[in-house]
Order: sequence, then C-alpha cells, then structure tokens
Amino acid sequence: EWTMAAFRDEAIARVREQVGKERVICGLSGGVDSSVVAVLLHEAIGDQLTCVFVDTGVLRAGEPEQVVSLFRDHYNIPLVHRDAADLFIDRLEGVADPEKKRKIIGSTFIDVFEEEAKKIGGARFLAQGTLYPDVIESVSFTGGPSVTIKSHHNVGGLPERMNMALVEPLRELFKDEVRELGRELGLAADFVDRHPFPGPGLAIRLPGAIDRERLEILRRADLIYLDEIRKAGLYDAIWQAFAVLLPVRTVGVMGDERSYEYVCALRAVTSTDGMTADYYPFDHAFLGRVSSRIINEVRGVNRVVYDVTSKPPGTIEWE
Ligand code: XMP
Repeated sequence: EWTMAAFRDEAIARVREQVGKERVICGLSGGVDSSVVAVLLHEAIGDQLTCVFVDTGVLRAGEPEQVVSLFRDHYNIPLVHRDAADLFIDRLEGVADPEKKRKIIGSTFIDVFEEEAKKIGGARFLAQGTLYPDVIESVSFTGGPSVTIKSHHNVGGLPERMNMALVEPLRELFKDEVRELGRELGLAADFVDRHPFPGPGLAIRLPGAIDRERLEILRRADLIYLDEIRKAGLYDAIWQAFAVLLPVRTVGVMGDERSYEYVCALRAVTSTDGMTADYYPFDHAFLGRVSSRIINEVRGVNRVVYDVTSKPPGTIEWE
C-alpha cells in the first residue's frame, strides 16, 4: 500500500544514494515546494546541505524576511540569504516578452547558484522543488499537441559546463501530495497551505516592459488584495490569488481632478493541481472593497478589474 510515510522514507533513501558524501545546494523560494525539498534533504543528508534563498527583486512584500526567519529560527537549517535583486532587475528591465522574462529568470537563478556553489567550496548537486505539472506543462499541454505553453523557470536542466546534477525529489508529485508530504515532515499547516508562487514571481504579473516603478505599484496592490482575502477568511478556499498590473492607463476622476493611471487586474482561482482552474466567485461587496482600497492607497492605479477566465482557455498566470 502506497502511503506518504513510505514515500518519505523512499525519497530520503534515494537522495542519500544519489548524492553520497557530496555537498548539495538547495534553492529556496519561500514557497511550499522548495521548503519541503529543503526539510526532506536536511533529514536525508544533514549538514551536507546548504540552502540558498535568492531575493530576485520580483518577490512579494515581506517575503524575504518571512523565509529567512522560518528557516533560520524555526528549523535551524543553515541558510544563505543572497540579495540578487539588482542583478535580476537589471537584466529584466525593459523586457516585455513573457518567454524572454522566464528565460532570463531561469538563467539568472543558475548563475547565482553556481556562484554560491563555488563559495562553499564546490557543490556537485542542485536541489529544487520541481513538480510533475511543471514538467508536463513546460513540455506540452495535456491532451494537446506538443507545444510549449510556458517555460517553467526551473525545468530544462542545467548547462553542460556546470558539472552539477539536479536533485528533484518531488518530480512525480502533484501539489496536494507535496502538501501532504510537508505535513508528514512536520511543516506548520499555515506554511504548507500557502498559495503557490511562481519562481518568475511578479515579473510575469507585469505584462509589458519591466520597470522598477511599476513593480512597486504591483507589490503594493497585491499586498492589499491578499490582506482583504485573509480578513474575509477566504485564503484557504482559494488556490491562488494575485494582482496583475496592466501596461495600460485609463482616464479617471479623483476629487475634481482628472487622473490618468494604470489598470490593476485581480485574479483568484480554485483548482486541485493547477492544471485546470475556475475563477473564484467573490461577492461584489468584497470586490468593491478591494477596489476602493487599492485605488485609494496605491498611487498609480485608478481602475481595478476582476478576471473571470477559467483554465483552459486562460492560464492561471497572465504570462
Ligand atoms: P499557469 O499560468 O501555467 O500556472 O496556469 C500553473 C501553476 O504553475 C505556476 N507557475 C510556475 N511555477 N515556475 C514556477 O515555479 C514557473 O515558471 C511557473 N509558471 C507558472 C503558476 O503560478 C500556477 O500555480
């Protein structure tokens, strides 16, 4: 009989066999998947593991602090906090094409991990929280012809020259199974139940050319939206919720002044594995409340819209 406890033991044994006595670097994003990998690896190989949390500059508000405190203070897992925000943003600035954004982020992650591996005297392995759907969706869309919908930032392997191999213990699992494994490993419920957050982060929630100012507007709108979702007790009923800042400005009126500011779109979906999704049916009072707060509190936004597209035909992220 297949149980999560048995999977955990097997996964630990497989990791030990794969890496032997070598050092392993684990990229932590702050999301559930990479955290589960980190805790699993820590159990499997102890201090052969170094976790690296990369601040990409396209994270949500407060994220770096939360991750660092969780790992250093609660789990006692050694953690390198690498602030690479300028490196990422400099490379992304002005880039508008969604696949280009994804490729830049994927390769910048690799560059950063390579540097960190050198700093610890050479690591032969890079561990990451790749899931089964990441693999499928980067390759082809379920049931359809073999075309790439989105290149997931962590799928596609490592460059030849790196002389490092991947450790991906979650590659056969779906999200709900990863959460179960997380609980099995003793991760706190409020952490295990966090909404998924993609590696390319806010960069793929900012259609059009990336710039620092619009990134900051998006970050502030997103924070308010999630705050209202939590206050309304809806967080756990939703698979994923986030704001998107459109590269479009529209005319509005503020007081007795004309305004000409950006449109913020809100997205919230229910799903079981991220492969298909339905938009979440918020009531209008809730949407009205979020809209007024964002427009009143975030300079640069004067219009809020709600995305009512399911997947398919939409995808969850806008890019
Ligand atoms: P889509 O937009 O393809 O998203 O419907 C399905 C799920 O995957 C997440 N996603 C990613 N996660 N790297 C990740 O780690 C990526 O490049 C990536 N692209 C999409 C998305 O947030 C959703 O949960």
